[in-house]
Amino acid sequence: MAFPILSAQEAADLIKNNDNLGFSGFTASGSPKVVPEALAEKAVKEHEAGRPFKVNVFTGASTNNRADGALARANAINRRTPYQNTPDLRLRINSHDAHYFDLHLSELAQKFRYGTYGDLDVAILEVAEVLDNGELVLGTGVGNVPTYAKYAKKIILELNAKLPAGMYGMHDIYLPLDPPHRREIPIYKPSDRIGVPTVKVDPSKIIGVVHSDSYDMVKKFSALDDVTLQIGANVCGFLLGELRAGRIPKEFLPLQSGVGNVANAVLFGLGDAKEIPPVQMYTEVIQDAVIELMKMGRCVFGSTCSLTLSDDTEAEVLGNLDFFRDKLVIRPAEISNSPEVIRRLGVIAMNTALEADIFGNINSTHVVGTKMMNGIGGSGDFTRNGYISIFSCPSITKGGLISNIVPMASHIDHTEHSVDVIITDQGVADLRGKDPVQRAHTIIDNCAHPMYRELLRDYLKLGKGGQTPHMLEASLEFHNEFLRSGNMSNVDWAKFA
Ligand code: COA
Repeated sequence: MAFPILSAQEAADLIKNNDNLGFSGFTASGSPKVVPEALAEKAVKEHEAGRPFKVNVFTGASTNNRADGALARANAINRRTPYQNTPDLRLRINSHDAHYFDLHLSELAQKFRYGTYGDLDVAILEVAEVLDNGELVLGTGVGNVPTYAKYAKKIILELNAKLPAGMYGMHDIYLPLDPPHRREIPIYKPSDRIGVPTVKVDPSKIIGVVHSDSYDMVKKFSALDDVTLQIGANVCGFLLGELRAGRIPKEFLPLQSGVGNVANAVLFGLGDAKEIPPVQMYTEVIQDAVIELMKMGRCVFGSTCSLTLSDDTEAEVLGNLDFFRDKLVIRPAEISNSPEVIRRLGVIAMNTALEADIFGNINSTHVVGTKMMNGIGGSGDFTRNGYISIFSCPSITKGGLISNIVPMASHIDHTEHSVDVIITDQGVADLRGKDPVQRAHTIIDNCAHPMYRELLRDYLKLGKGGQTPHMLEASLEFHNEFLRSGNMSNVDWAKFA
C-alpha cells in the first residue's frame, strides 16, 4: 500500500492551531521524533507572524526533548497529559503557559474513547514497518497507540529506520471493550499474550509517511552511588525477608519498577540477591537494569509498555532481538497498567518518592508542594493495586539541605492507605499493621537521616492528640524553613511550643 511520503515540515503544515494530537510511545521510547520538532519550528514562525499557534498533546507518558522539549521551547503546547519529564515543559507547566493535567496512565485511553477530551484530530505515530495490508508494526513503546489510531481523524506515520523488521511479534495489541460491556482482561501470568502483533488502522486515514532515523534518546541514568546502591540493597533485603517468611510465595511474584535513577538502582540490586529466584516483571517501563538481569538469567520475562533504554542498550537489544523475543512483550498502557491485572497477578510495586511523611503519605510529583516535577505516571495504578507497595527515596537530598522524610508531605499522591513499605538508604519501614503513631516512629527510626531524626521526633511531640497527631500550624515547617533559609535542618520548633 503506497502512502504519500512527506518531509517533516510538510507533515507539520497539515496540523492546525488548537488541534488535538495523539503521540505514539511511552517515555521517550516510541515517541515521534521529527514531526513534533518541525511543528515547533512552524509554531515559532506563526508566533513571529503574530498568529496564535498551540496544540493539545496527548501521549502515553513522557516523550523526548525533540517532542515535548521542542514544543515547549516554542511555547506551542496548550493542553498536555498524562505525564512529562522534560525541563522545558516543566517550566511551561509551572508558569501556566502549558495546561497540564496529571492523570493515572491507565485511564487516558478509555477517557479518550468516551470523548472526555473531544475528538482526536491527528495521531502522529512512530512505526517500525507498515505491512502490505496497511497494518502497523510499532516501535519500542506502545502507550495509547491502539486508541489514538482507531479514533484519530488523520494519521501521520514516522517510519524509523533504526527499528528492525524483527520488531514484528514483540507487541501484544489489545483493545478492551468499554463499560458496561468490558470482560476481564485475560492475563493470568506476565507472559500471556491476548491480542495481535500489529495495530490495524483504516488506511484512508493515513495522510503521510515521514522518514526518521534515530534511537529513542532516553536520558542517561546517573552512575550508581553509595546511596542508591544502599537503597537497592535495602529493597532486596526486604524482599528476601518476605520470601523467607513465606509472605511472598517461593516462586516469587511479578515485579513492577518505577522510573528514574533510584528505580534503576533497585533493579541492579536484584542481580546479586541470588536467593530470590529469577524474576518476572509486570511493569510499564523496562530500563537498562532489567536487560542486564535478563542477560544474567536473573529476569526471565518482562511484560511492559516500553523499552526505556539508553541508546547503547537499545542498539544492543534491537540488534539481538532473537535473544529477547521470548523474554519480552510490549503492551498498550491500559493493559500494562491495568488495575485489574495488577491486583490479580499480585504485582510487587516499587516506586520512587520525592518525599514521604512520617505517617506514610507520599509525594511523587510536587517539589515543595507547588512545582510540578514530572507527574504521577503509573505509580498510582501500581501502588493502589499492588500486593506489596513499596516507595523508596534517599533519606536526604542536596547534601542534607532537604530531608526526604518530613512531618507532612507538601503534596500527597499516594496516601498512607496504599503505602505498605518505605525504604531509604538508612533502612526499611514496614508500615503494615501499624497505627499512625507506630508508623511515625518506625519511619523516623528506620528511614530518616540521623541529622533529622530528633527534629522529627520533636515534631511528633508537638501533636496534641488525635489518631494522627499533627500540629497543623507546624506541619509544613520543614518546607517553610527550606523556602526561608534553604536548609530544612534550621527548623526551630520553639516558636510552636
Ligand atoms: N525536594 C526537592 N527536590 C527533590 C526532592 C525533594 N524532596 N527529592 C528529590 N529532589 C530532586 C533531586 O535533587 C533531583 O534534582 P536534580 O535533578 O536537580 O539533581 C531530582 O529531584 C530527581 O531526584 P532523583 O533522586 O535523581 O530521583 P529519580 O530520578 O529517581 O526520580 C521521581 C524520582 C519521584 C522524580 C520519579 O521517580 C518520578 O517522576 N516519579 C513519578 C512517576 C512514577 O513514579 N512513575 C512510576 C511508574 S513507572
